Amino acid sequence: MIVLDKENKVFTLHTQNTTYQMKADAYRVLLHTYYGPRVSGGDLSYLIQYADRGASPNPNEAGHRRDYSLDTLPQEYSTCGVGDFRLPSIEFEPEDGSRLADLRYVGCELRKGKYALEGLPAFWGGQEWETLVVYMEDASARMSVELYYGVLEKHDLITRAVRVVNRGTEPVQLRRCASLCLDVQRGDFDLITFDGCHALERNLNRSPLRPGVQSVESVRGTSSHHHNPFVILCDHNANEDYGLCYGAALLYSGNFLAAAERTQLEHNRLLLGINPYHFCWTLASGEAFTAPEAAMVCSPSGFGQMSRQFHRAIRENLIHDPLQGKRRPVLINNWEATEFTFNADKLVDIAKSAAPLGLELFVMDDGWFGVRDTDTSGLGDWTVNEEKLPGGLEALVPKIKALGMAFGIWVEPEMISEDSQLYRAHPDWALGVPGRPYARGRSQLTLDFSRGEVRDHIYGAIRKVLDSADISYVKWDMNRSLTDVWSTALPANRQGEVFHRYILGVYELLDRMRRDYPHILIEGCTGGGGRFDAGMLYYTPQIWCSDNTDAIDRQRIQYGTSFCYPISAMGAHASAVPNGMTGRRVSMETRGVVAMSGTFGYEMDLNETTQEEKEVIKKQVAFFKEHYDLIQQGDYYRLTDPFQNGPYNAWEHVSPDRREALVSLVSGTVHASAPFCTLRLKGLDPERTYQVNGQGAFPGDVLMEAGWPLPMVLDDYQPMQFYLSAL
Ligand code: DGJ
Repeated sequence: MIVLDKENKVFTLHTQNTTYQMKADAYRVLLHTYYGPRVSGGDLSYLIQYADRGASPNPNEAGHRRDYSLDTLPQEYSTCGVGDFRLPSIEFEPEDGSRLADLRYVGCELRKGKYALEGLPAFWGGQEWETLVVYMEDASARMSVELYYGVLEKHDLITRAVRVVNRGTEPVQLRRCASLCLDVQRGDFDLITFDGCHALERNLNRSPLRPGVQSVESVRGTSSHHHNPFVILCDHNANEDYGLCYGAALLYSGNFLAAAERTQLEHNRLLLGINPYHFCWTLASGEAFTAPEAAMVCSPSGFGQMSRQFHRAIRENLIHDPLQGKRRPVLINNWEATEFTFNADKLVDIAKSAAPLGLELFVMDDGWFGVRDTDTSGLGDWTVNEEKLPGGLEALVPKIKALGMAFGIWVEPEMISEDSQLYRAHPDWALGVPGRPYARGRSQLTLDFSRGEVRDHIYGAIRKVLDSADISYVKWDMNRSLTDVWSTALPANRQGEVFHRYILGVYELLDRMRRDYPHILIEGCTGGGGRFDAGMLYYTPQIWCSDNTDAIDRQRIQYGTSFCYPISAMGAHASAVPNGMTGRRVSMETRGVVAMSGTFGYEMDLNETTQEEKEVIKKQVAFFKEHYDLIQQGDYYRLTDPFQNGPYNAWEHVSPDRREALVSLVSGTVHASAPFCTLRLKGLDPERTYQVNGQGAFPGDVLMEAGWPLPMVLDDYQPMQFYLSAL
């Protein structure tokens, strides 16, 4: 619910459990007054204190009033160069070269429903949303800034977006435009970020805010394996079930900056948005720029509740699921089994071994097109390689379908190999400065997706493939970071737009594909999880979580990913052992238990598995299908932290009506004389009694408070699952 007190210019956003408030003061400065557990309302600006802080200047209208400074007051959207020396939200440069942004309130508007952003991903939905638009201006520069707030009360979600309009007559260079600025006066906070590298994505890192700025960012053109555009500010003592925390996610898949500042007054500012690195957008007179959407959830009761609210909102109001709530297929992908070395017979063989085990979708990965026997050639030539697949997809797909399986295909639309027909015809379509040697990444170059004609050509070729057979799944891969970012299509003074125009191009093409093929399930992938962000999830309901399929590493990767992103979004496959990346051998049971806490699949040649393993797989697939809704749509509880290297790692899915739960565990490395362990469950109905794995009935409160004794194990990495159903 949004409450507008227009007379006092106090704007309050209530969600089920939280309240957010801002107020335009006597100088029309928009102050942030409160964000936290839900309160009844009123004007919370009494919380703001005023005092003369020597080095903090005072706006002109304040005259000689020295206790009023933009530098010390909590700002709703911070300004630049006019007295607030903390992180600026916006920076622009008119013709005169000044870089000042002094925003003042001019009006507001309440709308029923959710605003949309043209060309950008955004949460969507009907009348359960309300929108507040706050209009700000820098009168001298004649720049308007519109602040958008979407409120989804039931999920405690507040979205934000910013639109900047040049109302002057001359062009203005927009150099910075954050999507979210959050000034929190109260509290000693920790900053949590999710960091890593290729094949070890989204490891949780937590550290107390210290004076100054701490930040994570991407300058790679993707949201990156290395840092994620989702961060948490939380109380020092916050944990899964306790403490105040603010989660903030940027719906953006390109360069981002997430920065937290601990100020001179021990206040806290969080800023999230497009990275100002190599960003400069020219706004001609009358033109507008829209910054990507950001989404916030505040949880007064720890990370678990915050994550579950993000999960629900993302599942119900961000992802466009082509299967509309129907079960997504359990898939088999040939990549780890064959890499580039396959032909049609080999693929059909793999599919033949998978179909009787209950697998439903066969995904043909990289290597089916152009001349693509290694990763040094072929990208850009999206025609079937008939040496490998005689008769093309028209011949192959019916064979797969005859096995009772659907067919899916891999593409990497944004890329081009120098050794390709496309590159020979259009060398200027790759990003790069003419005459300057460019860097390769995985031996390939990046297509200039800021250019419409490049996208049109690629899409035209891919469409022919998609139209040639019955294809129900596409894996959209992307395997390098961007370098040599320069476009022939733009003049020298507009090259600062290329990074952002590139990602807008990616979104435009994904949107076209999504609309033209509404029945196709698109899985995002960027060398594994290099673009696992909420922006991508708008177009691709699931994303390949990581190239690392080792079940032990995966628990950490999926744990970190789960802080913002739902289980139904996490591509997770069981693969062969020894694992190609770690050399580790764990049982098929363990691999399955970990992978089924995601969008489940296998990535191996099942002809090379033993009969015993096949039996295990068959049971796993049947179990997963039986409990699909519980796992994919249920509430997720992290029961342990896999980074603690404890005796076991455990997690739990609980159905929304709390009548069912599934607890999954993998033990750690075994030690002699190990202590007895009791696992306390979460999220159950304390007043119901649950049947546990058919081993007896126990009240929910007992299982949550007293717990469930775990059996002793005599080997490393043993899996366990307990299914609970209410009597
Ligand atoms: C990277 C992906 O993450 C893998 O799953 C696979 O599709 C390869 N690319 C293919 O080149």
